[in-house]
Amino acid sequence: MGPFALAQLLALISVTVALDDGLLKTPPMGWMAWERFRCDIDCKDDRENCISEDLFKDTADRLAEDGWKELGYEYVIIDDCWMSLLRDEHGRLQPEPSRFPGGIAKLARYIHDRGLKLGIYADMGTHTCMGFPGTTLDKIEIDAQTFASWGVDYLKFDGCYSNPIEQMLGYPLMSKALNATGRPMVYSCSWPVYVGGLPPNVNYSLLGDICHLWRNYYDIQDSWDSVQGIVEWFSNNQDDLQPAAGPGRWNDPDMLIIGNFGLSVDQARSQMALWAIMAAPLIMSNDLRNLDNSARAILQNKVAIAINQDPMGIQGRRLLQEKNRIEVYWRPLSNSASALVFLSRRTDMPYLYHTSLAKLKYQAGTYEANDVFTGSAVRGLNATSEFTISINPSGVVMWYVYPEQQSKLTESLHHRHKTFHKAKPEHSTVL
Ligand SMILES: *[C@@H]1O[C@H](CO)[C@@H](O)[C@H](O)[C@H]1NC(C)=O
Ligand SMILES: *[C@@H]1O[C@H](CO)[C@@H](O)[C@H](O)[C@H]1NC(C)=O
Ligand SMILES: *[C@@H]1O[C@H](CO)[C@@H](O)[C@H](O)[C@H]1NC(C)=O
Repeated sequence: MGPFALAQLLALISVTVALDDGLLKTPPMGWMAWERFRCDIDCKDDRENCISEDLFKDTADRLAEDGWKELGYEYVIIDDCWMSLLRDEHGRLQPEPSRFPGGIAKLARYIHDRGLKLGIYADMGTHTCMGFPGTTLDKIEIDAQTFASWGVDYLKFDGCYSNPIEQMLGYPLMSKALNATGRPMVYSCSWPVYVGGLPPNVNYSLLGDICHLWRNYYDIQDSWDSVQGIVEWFSNNQDDLQPAAGPGRWNDPDMLIIGNFGLSVDQARSQMALWAIMAAPLIMSNDLRNLDNSARAILQNKVAIAINQDPMGIQGRRLLQEKNRIEVYWRPLSNSASALVFLSRRTDMPYLYHTSLAKLKYQAGTYEANDVFTGSAVRGLNATSEFTISINPSGVVMWYVYPEQQSKLTESLHHRHKTFHKAKPEHSTVL
C-alpha cells in the first residue's frame, strides 16, 4: 500500500456518487489506436503507422471528411505508448516529445476543431501494460487534472501492474478525481478484466455508478476466432452482464476490427451485427486512410448503427443455440421494434434456416422487417407462419423488425435517421 493508509482511502470512497452526468446515453462511437497500431513507436522506419500525433490527426481528418462524424463516430482515442518514460518536473505525465511534438493540448484543439472528441489512456498501477509510467494511487488526482487541463474528453483506465486491493481503491478514486476537475470526461474502466469479469469478483452495480463503460473480457485480436470467443463468453454470461448495461453504463466487448486483415466480409457483418445487439461501443481500430469499400459500407450501415444507438439502451441477448449451429440473437428497441440476428457458426455452406417469429417468442400479429445488410424489405410476416432464410458460414442475417400497424411510425423514425426503406419490396429475403 505504500504510505497511503488503507482506512483513509476507504473513507474517501465510502460515499458512492452515481454517474448521473448525462454522458453516454447511448454507447460511444469512434476510433481507438490499439488493435490496429499497437505499440508501434518506430517513427523512423514506420512513419505512417507509428503512435504519433500525425496518426491521430490523420484519423481525425478522415472521421471528419469521410462521413463518419455525421454517423456518430466522434471519439479519437489514444491507447498505450503515447507517454514519455518520465513524468515532468511537477510529477505530471507528458507525451513522448519526438512523437507528439505539439503536445496533447494542441492535438485536442485539432480534434475539437473538427467537431470530434479526444480520448486518452492511463493505467491504474505502477506501469502501463507496455511499461510506460503508471498512475499509482497517489498520482490519480494529478493525472485527472492534467487530462482535464489538456481538454481530454475520455479516459481509458487500464489495470496492468496493480493488485485487486489497489484496483478497488483506484478505480472509484479516479471517478471522483475526474468529476472533481469539472470537465465532463467519459470514464472507461478495464477493472473487470483484471478480476475475472464476473460476480462476485465484479460488482456491476458499483461499476455502473462509477464508470460509463468497462472492459469485461480479454483484448480482441484480428481474427474471427477472437470475435467468436468474445461473443461466446458474453453470451454464456449474459445473465450477469446484460442487466448491467443501460444509458450511461455499458459493457465493452472491445474494438471493431472491421477493415483489417482477419475477417471476411461475412465475418465483418457478423461483428457489426453482434456489437449492435450487445449495445457495445462502436469503436473501430483500423486504418481509415486505407479502408476498402465493403468494410466502409458495413461500418457506415445506418440501420445497424441506429440499432446499436437505440435510446432505450437495452442490451440484447442470445435467444437460441440450435444443434445445427445456428444461433439467434435478439434486442428490444424503441417503438415496439426489435432486432434479430441469425448467426451461422457453421463452416460448410449457406444454411437454410426455417423458423417463425412465434418460435422466437414474438406475440401473435403481423410484422414487417428490414434486412439490415441487403436493405430489402420483408412485408406481411405473420408471427405464426414459417419463413426460411439463407445464412452464410460465419455470417449473419440481421433484421430490424416492427409490427405492421406501426410501419408508418417507424418509417417516419427511419426517415429522421435518413436511413433505409430504399430497397423495393420485391427483393424479399424470405425464400
Ligand atoms: C459530477 O458528479 C455530479 C453528481 O453525479 C454530476 O451532477 C456532475 O455533472 C458531475 N460533473 C462532472 C464534471 O462530471
Ligand atoms: C455492490 O455495490 C453497491 C453499490 O453500488 C452496493 O450497494 C452493494 O452492496 C454491492 N454489492 C455487493 C454484493 O457487494
Ligand atoms: C396468421 O396465421 C394464422 C395461421 O395461418 C391465422 O390463423 C391468423 O389469422 C393469421 N394472423 C394474421 C394477423 O394474419
